[in-house]
Amino acid sequence: MTATLRPRRRLHAALTAALALALAGCSADKYPNTIFEPTTEFNREVLSIFHSLFFWSALVFVLVEAALIYVMWRYRRREGTAEPRHVHGNTTLEIAWTLIPAVILIVIAVPTVRTIFRTQAKAVPNALQVQVIGHQWWWEFKYPQYGITTANELYLPIGRTVNFELHSADVIHSFWIPRLGGKRDLVSNHTNYLWFTPDSVGENAFNGSCNEYCGASHANMKFRAFTVTPAEFEQWTIHQKTPAAFGAAPAAGAPVTAATTQTASQAKTQGNPQATAATTGTTPAGAPVVPASNTGYTGFTAARLPAYTVPTMPIPEGMKFTPGLTGDAARGQQIYSRSACIGCHMIAGNPMSQGIIGPNLTHFGSRLTLAAGLYPNDEQHLALWIKNARVMKPDVIMPTLGKGEYDPVLGTTLKSGLSDQEIADIVAYLHALK
Ligand code: CUA
Repeated sequence: MTATLRPRRRLHAALTAALALALAGCSADKYPNTIFEPTTEFNREVLSIFHSLFFWSALVFVLVEAALIYVMWRYRRREGTAEPRHVHGNTTLEIAWTLIPAVILIVIAVPTVRTIFRTQAKAVPNALQVQVIGHQWWWEFKYPQYGITTANELYLPIGRTVNFELHSADVIHSFWIPRLGGKRDLVSNHTNYLWFTPDSVGENAFNGSCNEYCGASHANMKFRAFTVTPAEFEQWTIHQKTPAAFGAAPAAGAPVTAATTQTASQAKTQGNPQATAATTGTTPAGAPVVPASNTGYTGFTAARLPAYTVPTMPIPEGMKFTPGLTGDAARGQQIYSRSACIGCHMIAGNPMSQGIIGPNLTHFGSRLTLAAGLYPNDEQHLALWIKNARVMKPDVIMPTLGKGEYDPVLGTTLKSGLSDQEIADIVAYLHALK
């Protein structure tokens, strides 16, 4: 018995070594979106099934090909030899080649079915709940336990199970962060779930994307996921819950006035976000409002962003913006608050901006990417995005706003619209929303 097992064991070892070598080529350094370096229990279980499947398929392939080559060589046509004996039916062989595949299928099926049940089970009760809403073409993330709504950038505490509740606002999308887990569809009128626990391997940034064709900008529907320490996550949630605040008065160093701090904190203790929004909203434009809780961790900084998460999409040809313009955040707030922007976007703290069609912009200035992970969130890209989003991202709902710009969706040139200076002011305002 041992004599028959030994070659199998050797083969197993050889195949595993070959697999390890092959997978070494898929290391996270070289391929940051690899699925072969799992960082959650979900990915680890899926990978172990993949290994099992790969081993058995490789074994079957090698044995079948070896037998085939041997028979072809052994019974090849040679001069002067008689035709080999023809065989019709061999009960032993037929039973063997029926039973062996059946056994292999059972060996594969047991862990597969077990993993399906384990990963489809309900998440642990204390899991972090995150609602993911797919939109054409961006991601909305809601943290109901914290009362937070954000977009395109997902923060997850390491070591805590996160339970995603997957919805779609329109067509079918698919949620996938290759290094963490997935992928699972977002279907309208149906809720899917996906849960996993990011490993405690330190902070990290990962790429996420849509993986179900969902229209013209399907390939432009990306997001970033950040795994941070539990302490950083708590600070991040406090920051996210705080209404938008920006220091519009630049020269004075923007000291916090006693009055605004008091009203903001009073509103906060009442636990009424709308009261907070109303209070800060009535502050005259230009007066800095910096809530006390706004000094903590606000998220990943651009300097800490790994290269593979930095967008590389080039700016479409022919897009122009007047160089050297300096934006004024206070003026930008006024222009923003009377423009089309407010119909779609929400900025907590700006009572004029209560739209819910587009991404929530409350802390837009602390985001690192723009247009669902497509471009870096810098002045140049944001200015061009406001000027003519539809050139930067095909078929996007965000309208063309720049005066004299050609709207590729409507097929018309805008006679009225925002000037470059007005756009620069809005950019200054949005970037001040840290
Ligand atoms: Cu959303 Cu593809």
